[in-house]
Amino acid sequence: LRQIKVQADDFGMMSYDPGYLNTASCTSRITDLDGAKGILRYRGYPIEQLAERSTFLDVVYLLFNGELPNAQQSTDWEQRITHHTMLHEKTKRLMGGFNYDAHPMGVFISTVAALSTFYPDAKDVNDPETRMLQACRLIGKTPTIASYAYRNSRGLPYIYPDNELSYTGNFLNMMYRMVEPRYQAHPALERALDVLFILHADHEQNCSTSAMRNIASSKADPFVSVAGAAAALYGPSHGGANEAVLNMLREIGTKDKVADYVKRCKSGEIRLMGFGHRVYKNYDPRARIVKQTADEVFEVTGRNPLIDVAMELERIALEDEYFVSRNLYPNVDFYSGLIYEAMGFPMEAFTVLFAIPRTAGWLAQWMELMEDPEFRITRPRQNYQGYGERNIPNDYRA
Ligand code: ACO
Repeated sequence: LRQIKVQADDFGMMSYDPGYLNTASCTSRITDLDGAKGILRYRGYPIEQLAERSTFLDVVYLLFNGELPNAQQSTDWEQRITHHTMLHEKTKRLMGGFNYDAHPMGVFISTVAALSTFYPDAKDVNDPETRMLQACRLIGKTPTIASYAYRNSRGLPYIYPDNELSYTGNFLNMMYRMVEPRYQAHPALERALDVLFILHADHEQNCSTSAMRNIASSKADPFVSVAGAAAALYGPSHGGANEAVLNMLREIGTKDKVADYVKRCKSGEIRLMGFGHRVYKNYDPRARIVKQTADEVFEVTGRNPLIDVAMELERIALEDEYFVSRNLYPNVDFYSGLIYEAMGFPMEAFTVLFAIPRTAGWLAQWMELMEDPEFRITRPRQNYQGYGERNIPNDYRA
């Protein structure tokens, strides 16, 4: 190889790629995403097949282990996860300390980080069995944290996990149970939430997953790493978009106001939330499934009138040169908020509903990173454009 930096004062050569548009940060075998063709596959399986035929917990197994489980493995896996659904009692005191109007993502991020203090064994990130144990703990506990955050905001007593129920059935029960014995979620809604969880489980090296890999590359434990990834997800350009979409649809209000709103988006004043994606330059395949799921949910809950506003927005945008020429299509967040709202989730909880399933992707990527023969701490360089050396003036602080 030719030596690039031949003299001590040579800069050498470095790639400069703001926002990492053209930089692959790792080698991965988990999620295959072809943005031009609108393809998404977990471990080779198309997202459409997984959404139709699998369950969220089986998908977690697939992401973690590389293969779908057989019937026995699936049952054992479910038991292994549900074994970890309880939170340490002291966690309740921690969560109860937040104000009633604390954003659920702030509570979620803080509580996940705090779990690090309850599980000091998690520091042993070099041991594969310990890694899998922490991953199962997190998959089991995130719905419990999310529901406690919600109930805290409503001043309601916490509901303990009920391991007789499915993963999403238990979550809905912990969210909504008011009277004994249980909240019986409609099977169609339980399944719809499971499908949404499958769709959100992983999406290769997005902002939050890159944050997870970055933090974990210093060998920080998975609880604080997942908390950091969740913080990255919180932003409105990423997982916070589902909340922003519903705000936008409410602001527009009726179909006749859509055209004016689109004009404001085209002028650059605002962005059409739930539209556009860094990688998809075609229809986001998840958005297509979410739209279908919305119809199934509305059959049970009644039609959310804002769906008409959303469909009109999509119709106008997909015929408009501005959006067409920039390859801006609806992304996964465009319709998901409407479903969550129809299911009774408060808008502030939407990003948490994204964080629960994405925790699976973050952990799968973390476990892959820890086994990567090319493992290095992440340490990008910079294009420095500041001052050269200068002296502090004599009258400094004069
Ligand atoms: N509304 C209007 N114009 C848009 C939008 C939008 N939603 N998204 C991109 N554009 C325009 C930009 O103004 C820019 O136009 P220009 O070339 O005339 O300057 C062009 O399209 C390219 O935009 P970038 O910001 O360079 O695209 P990037 O890949 O960096 O951003 C992003 C992707 C952040 C998702 C962006 O499309 C966006 O802000 N969308 C709205 C927020 C959203 O829905 N986020 C969720 C993403 S999916 C997820 O995280 C699960």
